[in-house]
Amino acid sequence: MHKINIAIDGPASSGKSTIAKIIAKDFGFVYTDTGAMYRSVTYLAIQHQVSFTDEASLIELIENYPITFKQTDRGQAVLIQGEDVSEAIRQPEVTNNVSEVSALSGVRAQLVKAQQKIAASKGVVMDGRDIGTTVLPQAEVKIFLVASASERAKRRYKENQAKGIKSDYDTLKKEIEQRDYTDSHRETSPLKQAEDATLVDTTGMTIDEVVTTVENIAKEKMERGK
Ligand code: CDP
Ligand code: CDP
Repeated sequence: MHKINIAIDGPASSGKSTIAKIIAKDFGFVYTDTGAMYRSVTYLAIQHQVSFTDEASLIELIENYPITFKQTDRGQAVLIQGEDVSEAIRQPEVTNNVSEVSALSGVRAQLVKAQQKIAASKGVVMDGRDIGTTVLPQAEVKIFLVASASERAKRRYKENQAKGIKSDYDTLKKEIEQRDYTDSHRETSPLKQAEDATLVDTTGMTIDEVVTTVENIAKEKMERGK
């Protein structure tokens, strides 16, 4: 298959990672979860008792504790110095502070460099907030996934239920809206649809429907690029 890069951006819980993983598998591409990288830095800050606003120390942590991805039977694992932190970076303390860390331009510069390196050989499906605008402005396919805040909170609520995690729908919705606001209003690379991205409103769409929509856009691009 002709290798291209696919950038998938959008707000929290719009389905980016679910859709990106399936497309990467179907196309034999590599999936990269850039949110996991910002979460890992936040996790490191908690572990090393570094303030979420201490940019110099956070950059030092990134340099000293490289973040890597590994394919396992259970999907993609996120590693810091060989330790699997895939679960740890999803804990509420990380989720509720990650937007503060990801607003720092020095932190972003380090992680963007690493992300561009991963995508240099093409055949990458990368999801995040600024992939189409900043990380891979030349990506052949750019998708901006959205869904209403109530639908996204419902999805997260269901996901937690399935995992046996207790949560409150109203709190989840408020947290999602708060993170959307911080991510969209920061100075460096705010969450924003790239001018040449295709908007896909997934409210009321099943995962399969979203996958088919995005894959058809990508297939058309790959055919034309041959
Ligand atoms: O999966 P969920 O939507 O909850 O979030 P995520 O994709 O894991 O991203 C966590 C946080 O990292 C976001 O709320 C952003 O603050 C930040 N992020 C970012 O700033 N830029 C990216 N390319 C990816 C994530
Ligand atoms: O990566 P992001 O935060 O954008 O979202 P996600 O973690 O991929 O999706 C959040 C939840 O919504 C997951 O439990 C997905 O299974 C679910 N989902 C859905 O119900 N319908 C969709 N069209 C997309 C995702």
